[in-house]
Amino acid sequence: MINIIGTATYLPEKVLTNDDLQKMVQTSDEWIVERTGIRERRIASQDVYASDLGAEAAKRALKDAGVEASRIDLLIVATMSPDMLCPSTACVIQQKIEAWNAAAFDLSAACSGFLYALDVAKKFLESGEYKTALVIGTEKLSSLVNWKDRTTCILFGDGAGAAVLKKGEKGHSILGIWLGADGRGTDLLKIPAGGSMLPASRETVDKDQHCIQMDGREVYKRAIDVMCRISQESLQKSGLKKEDIQLFVPHQANKRIIDSVAKRLSFPEEKVFLNVDRYGNTSAASIILALDDAKREGRLHKGDHVLIAVFGAGFTWGGAVLKW
Ligand code: UT7
Repeated sequence: MINIIGTATYLPEKVLTNDDLQKMVQTSDEWIVERTGIRERRIASQDVYASDLGAEAAKRALKDAGVEASRIDLLIVATMSPDMLCPSTACVIQQKIEAWNAAAFDLSAACSGFLYALDVAKKFLESGEYKTALVIGTEKLSSLVNWKDRTTCILFGDGAGAAVLKKGEKGHSILGIWLGADGRGTDLLKIPAGGSMLPASRETVDKDQHCIQMDGREVYKRAIDVMCRISQESLQKSGLKKEDIQLFVPHQANKRIIDSVAKRLSFPEEKVFLNVDRYGNTSAASIILALDDAKREGRLHKGDHVLIAVFGAGFTWGGAVLKW
């Protein structure tokens, strides 16, 4: 069995409230809370990058696990806001935490990134060739947000979380992870410029094409449908019933999405974890921020079954069941 033996998070100190946003675009605290459940989000300062957030979360997770950085032989970073296009943020973090014995690479699956990375790490460890993995979800989405677009700028925040994984007896077991994708959704949520299709130019900057663009309504509908389906599939494949689940940890994008999914799955409010009000949507960091917060808030007890469901750009999605 592959186990999570340590977790931690790191959040920038600066808080951007809905009232602050009201001074930047035409919106209101009332609209944002009612439509999204978000009250505030964290914003990293200009000279702090996704690698800094990730490295700090990683150091804390290693401490939580009681593992030296030199013991890590696999380092995967899930992010959609890498420091640079090349080299990987994983290599930058490797340097910052001095994990010199690790193979390191980034994984791109947007908001599903942490679960994708967890599954890849699980499979590397199951092969027996790798012993200890560090999986990081880190985002500095504030650098990709169009701060003039009220339909998206209210949604996202910065933050990072990390987990240390090992094969063995100790820790929180990953009973299963099930992933999926549908590339027909690529146009609905994207950052069009900065890659080989639209290299940076005066025009791409003028048109804000380096920023997140989203068809919110369509993504909203798809997120609910897919998160319900992947949750049911994960229960079925793990041989559990919804009554066996003590905590449901969905991707934290919008409270209304979470409420709809929980309602369709008949999970009562007390079984659903929510922190989107404090951090907004932190994409690849969302699930590990939620898991670690749930742990620190005493919402997870030894032996609890945790159901995770994620959905993100691509589209990508995933479900997982952990035994805490
Ligand atoms: O991680 C996965 C990726 N992302 C998501 O899961 C997000 C998915 N989508 C959503 O969460 C929601 O679609 C949003 C929160 C983005 C938007 O909520 P909505 O209830 O779908 O609003 P809407 O787009 O239908 O817009 C309703 C109205 C529009 O005005 P009109 O056309 O009815 O006059 C918008 O222009 O609200 C307006 N509006 C705003 N008003 C005040 C849009 N954004 C704002 C705003 N403040 N920030």
